[in-house]
Amino acid sequence: MSFTIAIDGPAASGKGTIARQLAERYGFAHLDTGLLYRAVGRKMLDGIDPIEAAQALDVTGLDARELRGPDVAQAASKVAALPAVRAALVDVQRAFSRRSGGAVLDGRDIGTVICPEAEAKLFVIASAEVRAERRWRELVASGHEVTLQEVLADVLVRDARDMNRADAPLKAAEDATTLDTSKMAIEDAVAEAMAIVDAARKSG
Ligand code: DC
Repeated sequence: MSFTIAIDGPAASGKGTIARQLAERYGFAHLDTGLLYRAVGRKMLDGIDPIEAAQALDVTGLDARELRGPDVAQAASKVAALPAVRAALVDVQRAFSRRSGGAVLDGRDIGTVICPEAEAKLFVIASAEVRAERRWRELVASGHEVTLQEVLADVLVRDARDMNRADAPLKAAEDATTLDTSKMAIEDAVAEAMAIVDAARKSG
């Protein structure tokens, strides 16, 4: 059995938590595709050509903790605008999505470009203020020294770059269900996402 759940949305919309919980509930494998771009962004900060870094990327040993910081996030968003970087990362994402036993992928272009045939598609959004506050709390909890204003500015710059790039911009697939988590506790957002996926599994 192969069943793909595509989850897209802007930074700190809740898509990562929703993706992880859906994967757990259905016993599916999960790929946070932002980590691929973060790993390439990290290499660019180290002076390595991002296109070569993407072509040579070893996706098995990515350490999420090392890639969480705001500098890496901005670098990820910059390298993600390069078509050659995106092209180098397509096959590994598609192969993951087709694994037997089911897969959940979260990112910006999963429902539109990577897995247009996904059986269930969610577009997770929240206001920029709510997302900045969530990301700020996470960063502070993990030891980063940043202000809420800095994180909000960061989120807005990244949103604009991710939505306005020519290649695979952040946008909802026509057949995606939009979930606005601005006023929801994360448990409620997860429950709603599960209801949407359950309905897709019954009809599929
Ligand atoms: O999901 P994230 O915040 O970890 O993603 C970091 C950056 O990577 C994001 O600003 C844009 C880019 N990205 C992308 O272009 N396409 C994806 N499928 C996932 C992330």
